[in-house]
Amino acid sequence: MSKLIIEGGKRLCGKIEVQGAKNSALPILAATLLTGDSSVIHNCPNLSDVNITLNILRYMGCEVKKDGATVYVDSKCADKYDIPDELMHAMRSSIIFLGPMISRFGRARLTFPGGCELGPRPIDLHIMALRLLGVEISEKHGVLECSVPDGLHGAKISLSFPSVGATENIILAACMAKGTTIITNAAREPEIVDLADCLNAFGARITGAGEGVVIIDGVERLSGTMHTIIPDRIAAASYMAAVAATGGRVLLDHVIPSHLGSIIPVFEESGCTVSQRGNAILLDAPTRLHAVSFLRTMPYPGFPTDAQPPIMAMLATARGTGIFVENIFESRYKHVCALERMGAKIHLEGKVAVVEGVPELYAAKVAAPDLRGGAALVVAGLRASGVTEITGVNFIERGYEDIELVLSELGASIKKI
Ligand code: EPZ
Repeated sequence: MSKLIIEGGKRLCGKIEVQGAKNSALPILAATLLTGDSSVIHNCPNLSDVNITLNILRYMGCEVKKDGATVYVDSKCADKYDIPDELMHAMRSSIIFLGPMISRFGRARLTFPGGCELGPRPIDLHIMALRLLGVEISEKHGVLECSVPDGLHGAKISLSFPSVGATENIILAACMAKGTTIITNAAREPEIVDLADCLNAFGARITGAGEGVVIIDGVERLSGTMHTIIPDRIAAASYMAAVAATGGRVLLDHVIPSHLGSIIPVFEESGCTVSQRGNAILLDAPTRLHAVSFLRTMPYPGFPTDAQPPIMAMLATARGTGIFVENIFESRYKHVCALERMGAKIHLEGKVAVVEGVPELYAAKVAAPDLRGGAALVVAGLRASGVTEITGVNFIERGYEDIELVLSELGASIKKI
């Protein structure tokens, strides 16, 4: 098991290029199954979650090649409509294959995705929606058996919660359904827009992605194309938090500032100056941040839940007290006890976390509880005086490409052993 060794207390300065978006790459790679053709996907981040997705495509019979950040997928010979247990459990988001498999093969068999570290991860909205599209789904012993006796047909689907994964699965299943599908209360994340842009380049007819109502007119077939994945707004926010925690200054290249619309004001309220230059952002942090009085996570365009852990770590040493409310996942505070071991003062009350800023954090041996919680511990370790050891690096590698190299380029003393 590898671990990260961080000698904190160094002011981070410099320039980094932000990786491609993990939460775009996963559904877009799954979407290549729909074409039965060759596709080229650029700016694909080198992450364990992406590699698991590529292995699932290979298992299904696709030809997959990776050349740096470019992935070539030829799904002509794909013929497997089930995902083996070990691959399903390796990555919770493999549920995103459900829509493409049903659309391509008329069948799908997969196990319930592991309830992961963020609390139970129900898929009731996915199942409700797919049934409306004509899918028969039975669940026995944790295995979902799906079939479409009369084929997929359009439907009016209203989501009780703007679930990102459910919105993506509906769009993927509806692209070649007979007739029109209308999703109301759809998720509006930029990764949904990126998926729709890619599918429209394949020949789909999707309008309204990024809005609350998405309309998909079913087409006969889709063909391969070339697509470039958008930059990862959560990775950008995480690196901004790392630099701001050390009172540093960073130029982030390859970002889309509008995707950070609810994140930049948080950095500004904490005392950072943030200026936008085209597809770059310049962040300049004071030596000590001010607390952000109130931060609630919401579906996009609200403040993203994925940025909550690293930004909480950054604000652990701010001047003053701030309140976080985590509205998306029911247990996304697993990083708090490790932060407290490093000297943070955080009081948890259900969805609410009260963060009382302390002047310093102290190095400790800590374990990453999940992907974004791991990023929070990296942020804290960069600030803390002394040498922090972080185990559970496999969680961090799911979402951050070469994090130790990126941070070293900014002057951090960090190594993976
Ligand atoms: C996506 O997860 C992202 N993952 C998550 O990022 C992100 O935190 C989340 O969206 C919210 O933005 C990928 O895109 C691969 P949801 P997803 O369906 O689709 C409940 C990261 O760190 N829900 O919007 O699973 C669910 O329990 C990851 O990169 C149901 O109740 O999120 C949760 O409380 C973590 N029933 C809430 O909705 C359902 O059928 C949000 O879930 C589906 C979801």
